[in-house]
Amino acid sequence: MQRPFKSLSRSLRQPFNRLYARHRLRQYHSRERSLEEVVDWAMHFGGYGYMTVQTLQIPSEITQLAKAVQAIKPKIIVEIGTARGGTLLIWSYLASQRVITCDLNDMRRQKPLFSQFSPPGSQCQITLLSGNSHDANFKARLARELNGEKADFMFIDGDHTESGVEADYNDYKEFVRPGGLIAFHDIVEKQPLSTNQVFHFWKRLKLGADVQEFVADPDQCGFGIGLVRVPEA
Ligand SMILES: C[S@@+](CC[C@H](N)C(=O)[O-])C[C@H]1O[C@@H](n2cnc3c(N)ncnc32)[C@H](O)[C@@H]1O
Repeated sequence: MQRPFKSLSRSLRQPFNRLYARHRLRQYHSRERSLEEVVDWAMHFGGYGYMTVQTLQIPSEITQLAKAVQAIKPKIIVEIGTARGGTLLIWSYLASQRVITCDLNDMRRQKPLFSQFSPPGSQCQITLLSGNSHDANFKARLARELNGEKADFMFIDGDHTESGVEADYNDYKEFVRPGGLIAFHDIVEKQPLSTNQVFHFWKRLKLGADVQEFVADPDQCGFGIGLVRVPEA
Protein backbone atom coordinates (compact mmCIF):
# COMPACT_ATOMS: atom_id res chain seq x y z
CA MET A 1 0.00 0.00 0.00
CA GLN A 2 1.30 3.50 -0.88
CA ARG A 3 1.89 5.71 2.18
CA PRO A 4 -0.34 8.85 2.28
CA PHE A 5 2.62 11.25 2.49
CA LYS A 6 4.35 9.67 -0.50
CA SER A 7 1.14 9.74 -2.50
CA LEU A 8 0.48 13.42 -1.60
CA SER A 9 4.03 14.41 -2.45
CA ARG A 10 3.70 12.65 -5.82
CA SER A 11 0.46 14.47 -6.56
CA LEU A 12 1.97 17.86 -5.62
CA ARG A 13 4.90 17.28 -7.97
CA GLN A 14 2.63 16.12 -10.79
CA PRO A 15 2.02 19.58 -12.41
CA PHE A 16 5.78 20.23 -12.54
CA ASN A 17 6.45 16.78 -13.95
CA ARG A 18 3.80 17.42 -16.62
CA LEU A 19 5.39 20.75 -17.55
CA TYR A 20 8.81 19.15 -17.88
CA ALA A 21 7.42 16.31 -19.99
CA ARG A 22 5.71 18.83 -22.31
CA HIS A 23 9.01 20.69 -22.62
CA ARG A 24 10.80 17.46 -23.60
CA LEU A 25 8.06 16.61 -26.11
CA ARG A 26 8.40 20.06 -27.71
CA GLN A 27 12.16 19.51 -28.01
CA TYR A 28 11.58 16.08 -29.57
CA HIS A 29 9.07 17.51 -32.04
CA SER A 30 11.15 20.58 -32.84
CA ARG A 31 12.58 19.04 -36.03
CA GLU A 32 12.43 15.94 -38.18
CA ARG A 33 14.16 12.96 -36.60
CA SER A 34 16.04 10.01 -38.05
CA LEU A 35 15.09 6.55 -36.78
CA GLU A 36 18.33 6.39 -34.80
CA GLU A 37 17.48 9.69 -33.12
CA VAL A 38 14.00 8.44 -32.25
CA VAL A 39 15.50 5.33 -30.62
CA ASP A 40 17.84 7.58 -28.66
CA TRP A 41 14.89 9.74 -27.54
CA ALA A 42 12.96 6.62 -26.52
CA MET A 43 15.82 5.66 -24.24
CA HIS A 44 16.68 9.13 -22.92
CA PHE A 45 13.48 11.17 -23.02
CA GLY A 46 13.53 11.09 -19.22
CA GLY A 47 11.11 12.89 -16.94
CA TYR A 48 9.80 12.40 -13.43
CA GLY A 49 7.14 10.28 -11.73
CA TYR A 50 4.28 9.19 -13.95
CA MET A 51 5.56 11.48 -16.69
CA THR A 52 8.75 9.50 -17.25
CA VAL A 53 9.35 8.10 -20.73
CA GLN A 54 11.88 5.33 -20.92
CA THR A 55 12.66 1.94 -22.37
CA LEU A 56 15.07 -0.77 -21.36
CA GLN A 57 16.43 -1.82 -24.73
CA ILE A 58 19.81 -2.54 -26.26
CA PRO A 59 20.15 0.21 -28.92
CA SER A 60 21.46 -2.07 -31.70
CA GLU A 61 18.64 -4.60 -31.12
CA ILE A 62 15.75 -2.15 -31.07
CA THR A 63 17.23 -0.21 -34.02
CA GLN A 64 17.41 -3.38 -36.13
CA LEU A 65 13.84 -4.23 -35.21
CA ALA A 66 12.64 -0.70 -35.96
CA LYS A 67 14.34 -0.83 -39.39
CA ALA A 68 12.65 -4.16 -40.20
CA VAL A 69 9.29 -2.65 -39.21
CA GLN A 70 9.96 0.54 -41.17
CA ALA A 71 10.69 -1.57 -44.28
CA ILE A 72 7.09 -2.84 -44.38
CA LYS A 73 5.72 0.74 -44.16
CA PRO A 74 3.30 -0.05 -41.31
CA LYS A 75 -0.07 1.60 -41.10
CA ILE A 76 -1.17 -0.08 -37.85
CA ILE A 77 0.97 -1.26 -34.94
CA VAL A 78 -0.23 -3.07 -31.81
CA GLU A 79 1.90 -3.36 -28.67
CA ILE A 80 1.33 -5.51 -25.58
CA GLY A 81 3.35 -3.94 -22.75
CA THR A 82 3.52 -0.12 -22.77
CA ALA A 83 5.28 0.46 -19.43
CA ARG A 84 6.93 3.91 -19.64
CA GLY A 85 6.13 4.43 -23.29
CA GLY A 86 9.65 4.13 -24.71
CA THR A 87 8.88 1.66 -27.50
CA LEU A 88 5.52 3.43 -28.03
CA LEU A 89 7.51 6.53 -29.03
CA ILE A 90 9.23 4.46 -31.73
CA TRP A 91 6.04 2.83 -33.02
CA SER A 92 4.29 6.21 -33.18
CA TYR A 93 7.12 7.43 -35.43
CA LEU A 94 6.78 4.39 -37.74
CA ALA A 95 3.01 3.86 -38.05
CA SER A 96 1.18 6.08 -40.51
CA GLN A 97 -2.34 5.44 -39.21
CA ARG A 98 -2.60 3.98 -35.74
CA VAL A 99 -0.80 2.57 -32.71
CA ILE A 100 -2.75 0.65 -30.08
CA THR A 101 -0.73 -0.06 -26.96
CA CYS A 102 -1.88 -2.18 -24.00
CA ASP A 103 -0.79 -2.52 -20.39
CA LEU A 104 -2.00 -3.85 -17.06
CA ASN A 105 -1.28 -0.37 -15.68
CA ASP A 106 -3.91 2.33 -15.55
CA MET A 107 -2.50 4.81 -18.10
CA ARG A 108 -4.95 7.70 -17.58
CA ARG A 109 -2.24 9.96 -16.14
CA GLN A 110 0.12 9.30 -19.04
CA LYS A 111 -2.53 9.63 -21.73
CA PRO A 112 -2.10 13.39 -22.38
CA LEU A 113 1.62 12.80 -22.97
CA PHE A 114 1.70 9.40 -24.70
CA SER A 115 -1.16 10.26 -27.06
CA GLN A 116 0.88 13.22 -28.41
CA PHE A 117 3.95 11.17 -29.38
CA SER A 118 3.38 11.10 -33.17
CA PRO A 119 5.64 13.52 -35.07
CA PRO A 120 4.21 16.85 -36.29
CA GLY A 121 2.22 16.32 -39.49
CA SER A 122 1.72 12.60 -38.80
CA GLN A 123 -1.84 11.26 -39.01
CA CYS A 124 -0.99 8.47 -36.57
CA GLN A 125 -3.55 8.16 -33.78
CA ILE A 126 -2.45 6.59 -30.49
CA THR A 127 -4.82 4.53 -28.34
CA LEU A 128 -3.93 3.37 -24.83
CA LEU A 129 -5.79 0.33 -23.50
CA SER A 130 -5.45 -0.64 -19.84
CA GLY A 131 -6.23 -4.23 -18.91
CA ASN A 132 -4.96 -7.78 -18.83
CA SER A 133 -4.12 -9.22 -22.25
CA HIS A 134 -5.16 -12.65 -20.95
CA ASP A 135 -8.77 -11.57 -20.37
CA ALA A 136 -11.24 -12.51 -23.09
CA ASN A 137 -12.95 -9.12 -22.57
CA PHE A 138 -9.68 -7.38 -23.23
CA LYS A 139 -9.19 -9.24 -26.48
CA ALA A 140 -12.72 -8.23 -27.48
CA ARG A 141 -11.86 -4.58 -26.73
CA LEU A 142 -8.85 -4.74 -29.00
CA ALA A 143 -10.96 -6.37 -31.71
CA ARG A 144 -13.47 -3.51 -31.41
CA GLU A 145 -10.67 -0.95 -31.66
CA LEU A 146 -9.32 -2.60 -34.81
CA ASN A 147 -12.82 -2.84 -36.24
CA GLY A 148 -11.88 -5.54 -38.77
CA GLU A 149 -8.54 -3.97 -39.76
CA LYS A 150 -5.32 -5.90 -39.24
CA ALA A 151 -2.07 -4.71 -37.73
CA ASP A 152 1.10 -4.71 -39.85
CA PHE A 153 3.25 -5.24 -36.78
CA MET A 154 2.71 -6.47 -33.23
CA PHE A 155 5.23 -6.13 -30.40
CA ILE A 156 4.70 -8.67 -27.61
CA ASP A 157 6.45 -7.36 -24.49
CA GLY A 158 3.97 -7.96 -21.67
CA ASP A 159 3.79 -11.14 -19.59
CA HIS A 160 7.25 -12.76 -19.85
CA THR A 161 6.30 -16.19 -18.45
CA GLU A 162 6.35 -19.04 -20.96
CA SER A 163 2.61 -19.63 -20.72
CA GLY A 164 1.92 -15.88 -20.76
CA VAL A 165 3.90 -15.08 -23.88
CA GLU A 166 2.53 -18.17 -25.63
CA ALA A 167 -1.03 -17.12 -24.76
CA ASP A 168 -0.42 -13.59 -26.08
CA TYR A 169 0.94 -14.99 -29.35
CA ASN A 170 -1.89 -17.50 -29.81
CA ASP A 171 -4.62 -15.03 -28.79
CA TYR A 172 -3.44 -12.01 -30.76
CA LYS A 173 -1.67 -13.32 -33.89
CA GLU A 174 -5.00 -13.29 -35.73
CA PHE A 175 -4.91 -9.49 -35.55
CA VAL A 176 -1.76 -9.30 -37.70
CA ARG A 177 -2.10 -9.34 -41.48
CA PRO A 178 -0.52 -12.04 -43.68
CA GLY A 179 3.03 -10.88 -44.45
CA GLY A 180 3.03 -8.77 -41.27
CA LEU A 181 5.51 -9.03 -38.42
CA ILE A 182 5.34 -10.11 -34.77
CA ALA A 183 8.25 -9.44 -32.42
CA PHE A 184 9.06 -10.69 -28.93
CA HIS A 185 11.32 -8.94 -26.46
CA ASP A 186 13.75 -10.73 -24.14
CA ILE A 187 14.34 -13.94 -26.09
CA VAL A 188 17.82 -14.88 -24.85
CA GLU A 189 18.26 -17.95 -22.67
CA LYS A 190 20.40 -16.39 -19.94
CA GLN A 191 18.12 -14.23 -17.79
CA PRO A 192 18.44 -12.30 -14.52
CA LEU A 193 14.94 -13.42 -13.39
CA SER A 194 13.51 -16.95 -13.47
CA THR A 195 10.13 -15.46 -14.52
CA ASN A 196 11.63 -14.23 -17.83
CA GLN A 197 10.81 -17.34 -19.85
CA VAL A 198 10.29 -15.99 -23.36
CA PHE A 199 13.23 -18.10 -24.58
CA HIS A 200 11.36 -21.36 -23.86
CA PHE A 201 8.50 -20.32 -26.10
CA TRP A 202 10.70 -18.66 -28.72
CA LYS A 203 12.88 -21.75 -29.25
CA ARG A 204 9.73 -23.77 -30.07
CA LEU A 205 8.11 -21.08 -32.20
CA LYS A 206 11.13 -20.43 -34.40
CA LEU A 207 11.35 -24.03 -35.65
CA GLY A 208 10.13 -23.96 -39.21
CA ALA A 209 9.07 -20.30 -39.07
CA ASP A 210 10.44 -17.33 -41.01
CA VAL A 211 12.35 -15.59 -38.22
CA GLN A 212 15.14 -13.14 -37.49
CA GLU A 213 16.95 -12.64 -34.21
CA PHE A 214 18.48 -9.37 -33.05
CA VAL A 215 20.88 -10.21 -30.24
CA ALA A 216 23.75 -7.82 -29.53
CA ASP A 217 25.98 -10.38 -27.79
CA PRO A 218 25.40 -14.17 -27.79
CA ASP A 219 26.53 -14.32 -24.14
CA GLN A 220 24.37 -11.49 -22.84
CA CYS A 221 22.09 -11.87 -19.85
CA GLY A 222 18.61 -10.63 -20.76
CA PHE A 223 16.98 -8.98 -23.82
CA GLY A 224 17.42 -9.96 -27.46
CA ILE A 225 14.52 -9.59 -29.88
CA GLY A 226 12.89 -12.32 -31.97
CA LEU A 227 10.93 -11.42 -35.10
CA VAL A 228 8.58 -13.74 -36.94
CA ARG A 229 6.98 -13.03 -40.31
CA VAL A 230 3.35 -14.11 -40.62
CA PRO A 231 3.00 -16.38 -43.69
CA GLU A 232 1.39 -14.73 -46.75
CA ALA A 233 -0.97 -17.63 -47.44
C1 LIG B 1 8.95 -4.85 -20.18
S1 LIG B 1 7.60 -3.80 -19.91
C2 LIG B 1 7.24 -3.14 -21.52
C3 LIG B 1 8.33 -2.22 -21.99
C4 LIG B 1 8.01 -1.41 -23.21
N1 LIG B 1 7.56 -2.24 -24.32
C5 LIG B 1 9.26 -0.68 -23.65
O1 LIG B 1 10.25 -1.35 -24.01
O2 LIG B 1 9.26 0.56 -23.59
C6 LIG B 1 6.30 -4.94 -19.66
C7 LIG B 1 4.95 -4.29 -19.39
O3 LIG B 1 3.96 -5.28 -19.66
C8 LIG B 1 2.90 -5.12 -18.77
N2 LIG B 1 2.22 -6.41 -18.66
C9 LIG B 1 2.62 -7.53 -18.05
N3 LIG B 1 1.70 -8.51 -18.15
C10 LIG B 1 0.67 -7.99 -18.87
C11 LIG B 1 -0.58 -8.48 -19.29
N4 LIG B 1 -0.97 -9.74 -19.03
N5 LIG B 1 -1.40 -7.66 -20.00
C12 LIG B 1 -1.03 -6.40 -20.29
N6 LIG B 1 0.17 -5.87 -19.90
C13 LIG B 1 0.99 -6.65 -19.21
C14 LIG B 1 3.56 -4.67 -17.46
O4 LIG B 1 2.64 -3.94 -16.68
C15 LIG B 1 4.73 -3.82 -17.97
O5 LIG B 1 4.41 -2.47 -17.94
